[in-house]
Amino acid sequence: MSWNLPGAPWLVGHKFMLSVNKPKKFTIAGQDYVLWKNKKGEVSALENICPHQGAKLSEGWICPKTNTLACPYHALEFDSEGRARLPKEKISKPIAKPLKLYFQGDWIWTYVNKEPKIPLPDVLKKLEEEFRFAGISGDITINAPFLDVLEINNDYNHAKGAHRKLFKIKDIEIKDIYEVDRYTTKIDFHQIREDNTLQDYLKNPILLTYPKIVKASLDHYFPCLAIFYADTPLGKVCDVFAIYPETENTTHIFIAVFGNYTGIFNFITDRQLLSAINKLNKQDVEILENLYPRFEPKIKLTNEEPLNWARNLYQTWSA
Ligand code: FES
Ligand SMILES: [Fe+2]
Repeated sequence: MSWNLPGAPWLVGHKFMLSVNKPKKFTIAGQDYVLWKNKKGEVSALENICPHQGAKLSEGWICPKTNTLACPYHALEFDSEGRARLPKEKISKPIAKPLKLYFQGDWIWTYVNKEPKIPLPDVLKKLEEEFRFAGISGDITINAPFLDVLEINNDYNHAKGAHRKLFKIKDIEIKDIYEVDRYTTKIDFHQIREDNTLQDYLKNPILLTYPKIVKASLDHYFPCLAIFYADTPLGKVCDVFAIYPETENTTHIFIAVFGNYTGIFNFITDRQLLSAINKLNKQDVEILENLYPRFEPKIKLTNEEPLNWARNLYQTWSA
């Protein structure tokens, strides 16, 4: 077992999350990288360390004409393959290490320069055909190891505790589990909710769209995506929870939110939906960042099969 699952596919963002010609640092599998998007929408990535004297390239700037990234220390410029542009226009061989990216439309994936062990999930394109993309929510670093975050995404009982305040879920009934392949499962379930108060509705109008029994399903694409679909009178809502290991003790998450609401429920805006998902994410983070160190659980609950499936794949992943 290796904490960062070498050879796994990771969804690291959507082009929409990058500003044009603005370098952005991100960390994955223990290494810092810098990402940038040019005016044409092309995205490049290099290791964040300048091969000259180790400055952080993400603190530098983009030269739009040459699509090069200039180092903030001595202004040496690097192209997307890591070649330095030297005085008198000589180009060096690659000396800054590029990060290989894979694209599905505007979605950005990486295997962190490792040999792919499993294919990229092909679900995002299908989602874009079926839904309207509402935006990104909860794009943050969680101070918890990857396995803890993976587990909460596969844990059907946690909604009863962690999400009690917002959605008042009092029970979960798993209706069906399908194993599509070794790394993909689909689960249909019902979330049974308590009544909300008038105050709850005033604070979070999105709750008006949630029935007492939420018919939902969750598709897991180990280890990177958990996709939650819920039927509401408003239409169908879909949240893609994307996670990747930053360091041994920190994990990145962002949630791509989609909807296909229609008719009289149009007054519920994307913003409300994104803000509700953000609150939901914060509730998870609060639990995850306050767990005591891991130990063997002394009790097992029902509905833990998906959790065991994910934990087992993680623990038996060979480097
Ligand atoms: S440290 Fe980057 S150019 Fe010198
Ligand atoms: Fe949660």
